[in-house]
This record gives sequence, C-alpha cells and structure tokens, in this order.
Amino acid sequence: MAYAAGVDVGSTQTKAVIIDEKRAIISRALVDTGANVIQAAENAYQQALHAGRLHEEEVEYVIGTGYGRYRVTFGNAQITEISCHGRGAVHMFPGTHTVVDMGGQDTKAIRVSETGEILDFCMNDKCAAGTGRFLGAASAALDIPLDQLGPTALQAERPVKISTTCTVFAESEVLSWLGKGKKIDDILLGVHQSIAARSIGLLRRVGIEDEVTFTGGVAKNIGMVQALEDGMNMKINVSPESHYIGALGAALFALDHILTSRSPVKGDR
Ligand SMILES: Nc1ncnc2c1ncn2[C@@H]1O[C@H](COP(=O)(O)OP(=O)(O)OP(=O)(O)O)[C@@H](O)[C@H]1O
Ligand SMILES: [Mg+2]
Repeated sequence: MAYAAGVDVGSTQTKAVIIDEKRAIISRALVDTGANVIQAAENAYQQALHAGRLHEEEVEYVIGTGYGRYRVTFGNAQITEISCHGRGAVHMFPGTHTVVDMGGQDTKAIRVSETGEILDFCMNDKCAAGTGRFLGAASAALDIPLDQLGPTALQAERPVKISTTCTVFAESEVLSWLGKGKKIDDILLGVHQSIAARSIGLLRRVGIEDEVTFTGGVAKNIGMVQALEDGMNMKINVSPESHYIGALGAALFALDHILTSRSPVKGDR
C-alpha cells in the first residue's frame, strides 16, 4: 500500500494529512505555525505519521501548500493553497462549485469546475478584517475562548453593527460597545456578520454558484457558518475535516503523482 501526504503551512496553523491509495484519510495533525515555520511543518508531519503508525519511508510523495509551502523541507513539490483547497473541497463535496476558505490571515473565494480545477479566485488584500485574526481580536477583547465565539454569537437577539474595517481597531470597537452596555452575544454576532459580509463580497466577485463549500479553520465556528448562510440565503457545505481540506487537496495531488508515475509509458514494452 502506498501513502501520500499533504502539509498545509498556514500563517496561523499548520495541517498535515496522510491518505492511502484509495484516497481515504489515514491520519491528520494540527499545530500552531508560530515563528519557526520549518519546525511547525516537521512537527505536524511527524504527528500525522505517528497517528497513522507509519514510517516516513512508507509515504511515497509529500506536497507542501499554504504560505509556508517552501518551508516543507521534506516535501517533494509545492502547490498553491488555492489549487489545494479547490481540489480538497470537490473531493469532500463533489457538488462544489464555489469555495470559501477562511484562515487566520486570508479569506479566499474560489470558483471551481466539476473536476476541481480553478476557474477564478479572489482574496482579501493586505487587510485581515474578514478573517480569523479579526475573530481572534474579538476573542481577546471579550476574554472568550475561540471555540466559544460561535456558540455565544448564536444566542444573540439584537446584533450590533460593527463599523470598523480594521482588525487593529476591532478590539477597541468591541470594548466601546461593552462600555455602552451592549450584551456580549449581540456584539459577537455583529462581529460575525461583519466578517461574513466581507467574505460574501469576495464570493460575489468570483460568482456564487451552488454548492458552496466552507474550508479553513474558521469553518469550525458555527456562528460563522450561520452568518454566511443567512447572508447568502443558502445552505453551505461544512465538514469536520474542513480545517484539513487544503492539506487533503495537497495529499490528493501527491497521490496523483504516485499513480501517474507508476502507469506504464505509452509504447513501453
Ligand atoms: N476550534 C476553533 N473554533 C473556532 N475557530 C477556530 C478554531 N480553531 C481554529 N479556528 C480559527 O481558524 C483560524 C486558523 O485557520 P487556518 O488554519 O485555516 O488558517 P491558516 O491556514 O493558518 O491561515 P491562512 O490561510 O490565512 O494563511 C484561526 O485564526 C481561528 O480563528
Ligand atoms: Mg490556510
């Protein structure tokens, strides 16, 4: 049995996925990227090998993706995260035509063909206001753990309208709403709605075509899933593997390489 791996070194978190020849996920691992990007890639990969009870030699091909893809020193090749998220999303949800990847630093809107090829894409420029970082700032300001942000926001009845378009000012705006006596859940729903509105703006630029698949770490946040669905007035695909979809796409490309390099060359005897 051959194995293939993908390592997605994001600005915030590094994800590794190992698959077998049948494209089934054998194992996965997640670590914070931190300052030592090479080490983060190595750690995530070693943890995935360990979780899958595999030795390094059993994995035939490894592809790096994400902003730190060239830091995957043990990788055999690199592919952009746009291609990997597209590929992974279509594998996970074959009806996918549009992908929204919300990570720590970037939000990307991607339109894909039925086979997962990229038809168009668009991402937030420089500004992190529509991304996980903005949620991180709200989490710090309100002293609420990241994984509680979504569930808390869903309890809101009267969301506030967040006007800041800058992550740097998000914390002070959140605190000023608190000072005015607004409830934490109402402030948080406002934060989610503001991020969702920015992401939907990006999605409209590539064209929103059903089905829409949500990837990246922010897909773990049920408040964001809900805010996107309400904003677009449609259901979106989310999976427990959403955070790993870029790494999964990279692993699928790695498996393609293994399988094509095995098939006999035409005319070969
Ligand atoms: N359990 C969780 N609940 C809610 N949000 C989460 C959770 N885990 C991670 N996140 C969010 O996911 C973000 C990280 O996502 P991801 O790993 O996709 O980013 P990245 O790939 O490092 O960044 P980028 O693609 O922008 O370079 C964090 O900033 C955080 O907001
Ligand atoms: Mg990413």
